[in-house]
Amino acid sequence: MANKNQTLGEFIIENQNSFKYSSGELSRLINSIRLAAKVVNHEVNKAGLVDIIGAAGETNIQGEDQQKLDVYANEKFIKTLKNRNIVCGIASEEEDDFITINSQDKNNQNKYVVLIDPLDGSSNIDVNVSVGTIFSIYRRITPIGTPVELKDFLQEGSKQVAAGYVVYGTSTMLVYTTGDGVNGFTLNPAIGTFYLSHPNMQFPENGKIYSVNEGNYIHFPTGIKKYIKYCQEEDGDRPYTSRYIGSLVSDFHRNMIKGGIYLYPKSSKNSNGKLRLLYECNPIAFLAEQANGKASDGYTRILDIKPTELHQRVPFICGSKNMVEKCEAFMSDFLEN
Ligand code: AHG
Ligand code: MN
Ligand code: MN
Repeated sequence: MANKNQTLGEFIIENQNSFKYSSGELSRLINSIRLAAKVVNHEVNKAGLVDIIGAAGETNIQGEDQQKLDVYANEKFIKTLKNRNIVCGIASEEEDDFITINSQDKNNQNKYVVLIDPLDGSSNIDVNVSVGTIFSIYRRITPIGTPVELKDFLQEGSKQVAAGYVVYGTSTMLVYTTGDGVNGFTLNPAIGTFYLSHPNMQFPENGKIYSVNEGNYIHFPTGIKKYIKYCQEEDGDRPYTSRYIGSLVSDFHRNMIKGGIYLYPKSSKNSNGKLRLLYECNPIAFLAEQANGKASDGYTRILDIKPTELHQRVPFICGSKNMVEKCEAFMSDFLEN
């Protein structure tokens, strides 16, 4: 049983045996992510001190400016996973294509692929606002010992074996699930150890926070506009309060603890919204469901969407169950756009 003095290392070992495919491989993988998270955390925390903030002068495949810390976090996570020879493939929001690991080595028995958003909320880096890392883990579907293929990465979110995030906030936390609830660990920076601080995290079924970039309101579909107006109406526990950080990880983390809904809808400018299905929506949706919350694109469960490309985007509505269902009801009432 989880106890609050437990370190993440102890928790991983203790829970390894209850995992049905237990070979220690997933535990080692989560341990590697823990290590990379500590390294990135160290760098994020001194971002104001050294010349590492600011654009790196490169643009990623999504056409966005890469910040230096994006590049750094991307390198650190990939290097850690590669060096420890723990996965057979990696896909990253910051890489054009997936990375094959040890494809020539017939003895490479690794069966997991990892997908990461190495630094989420990157526009917040140089203004000292919380950012995060998101990860998603699948079992490969192609045979062990052969090079990974695109289809290993394009699996429905419901096939994830683990997912989680690191939030580099007022304290640094690692929150993850292996499909048996969600647990949160807080880093004690003095000794570099994560401790179980938030066992069995649960979304309140109802919440009073809505998180959306309302600057895009004019471009939203009618159902979303109506739902936002509903959030603002005076009735019962409404109007809700509005909170939007602009780091999915941080907005989600707050809403999971306090109760709330996060929306990144499609708009007349972006027909699929902005967030990436594989690196952001699927892992966050898996965590949401494991914490008794819900995630949808307005009509369909996120975890049921069959991905067609690595950098695919989808509209994303996620949070307290009753709030997401209410929003979906508005979406189906105003199907016209
Ligand atoms: P990333 O930094 O990985 O590109 O992700 C940023 C995402 C997400 O974290 C955040 O909620 C959203 O983009 C903010 O977008 P807007 O600035 O359009 O509101
Ligand atoms: Mn992101
Ligand atoms: Mn990112």
